[in-house]
Amino acid sequence: MPWFTGDAPSAVPGLDAATGGDVTRALESKEFTGRLYDIFVAPIVDRSWNARRVALVGAGPAAGFGTDLARKVASAAGLSMKQRRIAAAAFLVRTGGPDGLADRGGAGALGQAVAEGLTLSEFNVGTYKTSDVPPGNAPGWTIVTAGVPNGRATEFSEAVHRGRLLGECSNLAREMSNEPGNTLTPREFARRSEDVVAGNGLTVEVLDEIAIERLGMGLLLGVARGSAEPPRLMVFRHDPPGAPAGPVLGLVGKGITFDTGGISIKPADGMERMKDDMAGGAAVVCAMRAIAALNAPVRVVGVVPTTENMPGGRAVKPGDILKSAEGKTVEVINTDAEGRLILGDGLWYARQRGATHLVDVATLTGAIVVALGKITSGLFGTPPAWVDLVRRVADGAGDRVWPMPTFDEYGEQIKSEIADLMNTGGRPAGSVTAALFLKEFAGGLPWAHLDIAGTAWLEDAKPYLQKGPSGVAVRTLAELAFTSSEWV
Ligand code: BES
Ligand code: MN
Ligand code: ZN
Repeated sequence: MPWFTGDAPSAVPGLDAATGGDVTRALESKEFTGRLYDIFVAPIVDRSWNARRVALVGAGPAAGFGTDLARKVASAAGLSMKQRRIAAAAFLVRTGGPDGLADRGGAGALGQAVAEGLTLSEFNVGTYKTSDVPPGNAPGWTIVTAGVPNGRATEFSEAVHRGRLLGECSNLAREMSNEPGNTLTPREFARRSEDVVAGNGLTVEVLDEIAIERLGMGLLLGVARGSAEPPRLMVFRHDPPGAPAGPVLGLVGKGITFDTGGISIKPADGMERMKDDMAGGAAVVCAMRAIAALNAPVRVVGVVPTTENMPGGRAVKPGDILKSAEGKTVEVINTDAEGRLILGDGLWYARQRGATHLVDVATLTGAIVVALGKITSGLFGTPPAWVDLVRRVADGAGDRVWPMPTFDEYGEQIKSEIADLMNTGGRPAGSVTAALFLKEFAGGLPWAHLDIAGTAWLEDAKPYLQKGPSGVAVRTLAELAFTSSEWV
């Protein structure tokens, strides 16, 4: 259970006595203070309790507690229980506020966040380990709370169910992003994505290189040229019976299964990380699963162009001109700026398939890592009301995002002498010019772009998240499908 700094031993009735006074002793000696993510475990000596031990998880000051910390504290607790190989545990949802469960988003919001956090903690990164001791099985969790007002227990358990599902979908995206380039080729990515969305009433189409050619997607084909593996274009549709014809949410994700940089090849150091250059695509696939499973009341189309970016003998070269499906021509200055190319055709295709509101997600630029580090994803787009909605939804979902500018003046940097556009705009404001390139393919629709290059992968473990793939943006995209009354 969460424990707030300053909580008296009596904060949870009966607990101190059940531990034989251990809680009081730990608080008095300052062995445990409730500092964020600290964990204190005490045996329960009162045999009338079901539990043999209690774990207090530091939740910091009660005043700062809300869904964001509830998710993280629950995840930290989950990781710690997993490490201790605990088989079964209950998590007590506490609010910390003076108003009981009506406070801080209510029982539902906190229950959902806790379920998300506990589920996120179940993820394991060592898929291919054969010799190490396997990580402990995640404990079976029961999420409980005290004092849900009469008649609201269903609301609480539904929220817990929703949180579990969103956590599971985040973990599926993490699994895909963790998969190396030799196992997760574009064809395999498409095959696994079909499995991920199966059984939820979604329709899936996977277009092969011939269909892609027929659509005239010269940008996607251009990137794929250097690879022996053929590209694919995945299209998912969620069309709930009885939903109005519009609006239609269009989700587009970057699906580069490995990014060598192509002819403008990347340095060897750290290139292995480029296996997760399909994290945006995985976020779209797994958000589609959540959207269907939770039966979002709105139509959604998901589009994931997927290919490798390789420097083969037929690869696209700097100076080459590619023609997009929309008809716009692009001078390729740097073959390593491949994400915006495949997304250009992807955004166009989402519009062809009826999208009225667009969001794309991509590990797009190193420049966004320079600007925002590894904590926050860059948020771009237009009009401001649409971008603002995405921002609010992301805040609630626990994905940190921050708005970046898309002023027209930056567009000068990607004008080509020979074609309509260049695929790079130089070093200054590199994430902004990348976003402006994408905007050219959004057809004037409300459009938001999340640059997750810094957030898709954790270099270091946090108390509340393992290192490795983060599953960023899955919950944001899924939750967005439940906000159509606010769409502009
Ligand atoms: N996939 C990379 C961006 C990236 C960088 C993701 C670091 C994760 C971590 C993208 O395709 C890329 O190579 N972008 C180039 C663009 C440049 C050539 C204009 C970059 O950011 O260096
Ligand atoms: Mn690249
Ligand atoms: Zn890339």
